[in-house]
Amino acid sequence: MSKKTILSGIQPSGNLCIGNYLGAIKQWQTLQNDFESIFLVVDLHALTIDQVPSELRKRCLSFVAQYIACGIDPISSKIVIQSHVPAHSELMWILNCMTYLGELNRMTQFKDKSKKAKNINAGLYSYPILMASDILLYQADLVPVGADQKQHLELARDLANRFNNKYSNTFRLPEPYIPKQGSRVMSLQNPKSKMSKSDANSNNIISLLDSPGTIRKKINRSVTDSGNEIVYDENKKQGLSNLMNIYESITSEGLSNIEQKYAGKMYSVFKNDLSDLLIELLTPISKEYDKIMNDKKYLSNILKQGSDYALYKSNKTLSKVYRKVGLVEK
Ligand code: AQP
Repeated sequence: MSKKTILSGIQPSGNLCIGNYLGAIKQWQTLQNDFESIFLVVDLHALTIDQVPSELRKRCLSFVAQYIACGIDPISSKIVIQSHVPAHSELMWILNCMTYLGELNRMTQFKDKSKKAKNINAGLYSYPILMASDILLYQADLVPVGADQKQHLELARDLANRFNNKYSNTFRLPEPYIPKQGSRVMSLQNPKSKMSKSDANSNNIISLLDSPGTIRKKINRSVTDSGNEIVYDENKKQGLSNLMNIYESITSEGLSNIEQKYAGKMYSVFKNDLSDLLIELLTPISKEYDKIMNDKKYLSNILKQGSDYALYKSNKTLSKVYRKVGLVEK
């Protein structure tokens, strides 16, 4: 029996952070051997916010190298830069014509991001349709994402259903895969909002490439409360609970075990141990990243393999779609 397909992607904006790692990349790494796996660097999505062209180009390659350094196997899994595959934008147009404005108006990520954005462009608004086209193009069965992307996934399913009902069965219906731990890592200084890789305040995030000293400093300075008991309470102890969630998703120790382990100990002891865990996790990733970035030929070979595969797969779906909606074949 052929393997099911997983697909996921991250937009190359800001610096990949532990939110992205625990919510997405760690799950990709665990699932990749059991599935046909496609991991995208969604550079077209990144254009929805203002980018410095030379930095965007560098960041795309840097993200590919960080995927590999985090344990994504670039041979058995396919790593693809979204803009290398024109079918993403082409399918998006068809799906644009099938999406209701009311559906886009309900998207909470658009509401959040448009509050922060300097210019609110049409791309930011139709972002979930491009994401639906990323997923449906490859007939993905499972999409590992953080909890923030659940609503976008539902739109992808609705569009697939709508198309299948109107024409005939064409798209597989994707299921979200949201991890039990790490699905919503919060900001270190403002634990009411989620940790985001393009946060202007770098103290809010732990980047995958932060040095050990920086990691320790950021965790020590992270916001907790004036209490002194290490107990999980998302309402009264948001900052501490966020740190405990991070600890749990790195070690897989249950929250009650963590509470027991630190009973009677000070916040500083817990923060110090969490820093050690993060340093132990991220130092090998940084080292591997440096090696990969020094071998540009290796990176371009990986991307060539990824795009050859993606062009073949995506064109198969797109030509079916074009035929079904009534476009004249070439
Ligand atoms: N704080 C988080 N906790 C758990 N998972 C998270 N993800 C993002 N933030 C957290 C997951 O990482 C992937 C990132 O995909 P994206 O860059 O396309 O989307 P995003 O949600 O916009 O990510 P960021 O980090 O907030 O980026 P910026 O700041 O650039 O907009 C997704 O799987 C997401 O669920």
